[in-house]
Amino acid sequence: MTAAPHFYARRLRRPGAVLAPMAGYSDAPMRQLATEQGALWTVSEMISARGLMSGGDSEKLNLGRPYPGEAERVVQLFGAEGEVLAAAVARAEAWFAPAALDLNMGCPVPKIRGRGGACLLQTPEVAYELVRAMKSATALDVSAKIRLGWDHDRSLEVAQGLEAAGAALITVHGRTSAQRYTGEADWEAIARVAAAVKVPVVGSGDVTTPDVARQRARTGVAAVMIGRGAVGNPWIFRALATGQDERPGPQERACTALRHAELQEQFYADPTGRLTLRPLRKVLPAYLPDFPELREALVNVVTVQDVRAALRPLLEERPDRQGAPGGDAAGYAVGHS
Ligand SMILES: Cc1cc2nc3c(=O)[nH]c(=O)nc-3n(C[C@H](O)[C@H](O)[C@H](O)COP(=O)(O)O)c2cc1C
Repeated sequence: MTAAPHFYARRLRRPGAVLAPMAGYSDAPMRQLATEQGALWTVSEMISARGLMSGGDSEKLNLGRPYPGEAERVVQLFGAEGEVLAAAVARAEAWFAPAALDLNMGCPVPKIRGRGGACLLQTPEVAYELVRAMKSATALDVSAKIRLGWDHDRSLEVAQGLEAAGAALITVHGRTSAQRYTGEADWEAIARVAAAVKVPVVGSGDVTTPDVARQRARTGVAAVMIGRGAVGNPWIFRALATGQDERPGPQERACTALRHAELQEQFYADPTGRLTLRPLRKVLPAYLPDFPELREALVNVVTVQDVRAALRPLLEERPDRQGAPGGDAAGYAVGHS
């Protein structure tokens, strides 16, 4: 795995979409499935720079640790102090072999807010210093992911400041922090940012199907990022990388749901499976939204064996039952954990 600068420019030569950072979701197993289906790159869940420097408990290591062979994963850090972020960049580079480092400037959760995240949109000059500090600690690309603003759109000013500070790429989630996840992402505002800076801009918000992604890609962004729409649906990345839009039938989706559970078990290496599969309970039904009768069993799994048992009717193939193609994970309950 060679860490090299200009990661984003190289990846952007290909068609495709980016897997969004999602706390509680974009862990190594989800990233692996997305990468296998052609995601341009993936982004880790946000990792506290302070947490990383204060010893790195096993949870923090899991947040940053790559799966074997993982090479196209950006590590996202949040923090508010330059020297801590610079040290965390060096540590993340040594421990996690990232392809690039990203600064979180979008998280609206109160416990994060006081220390960074979307709070930085109120004091963007602090964020510019943070990007400079991060860059001083690495030769890798440093990027930032912003929302439009704190409670009003100041994304042009912030993006231009980040560009001047040396950010290699800027991702814009088209909502203010005050909006959290309500309303619709404002892709016109994202397009204005893309037109106002020279560095590539990635657009984020409400992309749930390949067609919507293609429409959004025409707004002038360098690439489209997909979060909730990729939960239980890694094939959305295949569609955008290859043009093969059709979502697989129920058997293949059930096989992939089972594989997700197996990857989860391998990555977290918890022999009881008890802690390991709990976070997947919210994910597994999204693979099979057209089989509501399986939901109850899937949200109660404890072991991989339980997942296999719940999916057995589909794994054994039922030619009498065709799943609706293009099932949609967009209705997924959102709680920025
Ligand atoms: C459960 C959840 C967790 C998220 N965690 C992060 C995070 O750790 N870092 C970040 O920059 N954005 C985070 N986001 C925001 C997403 O990256 C993305 O910008 C947002 O969900 C809009 O895209 P979507 O409509 O495709 O989901 C999170 C969103 C969700 C729903």
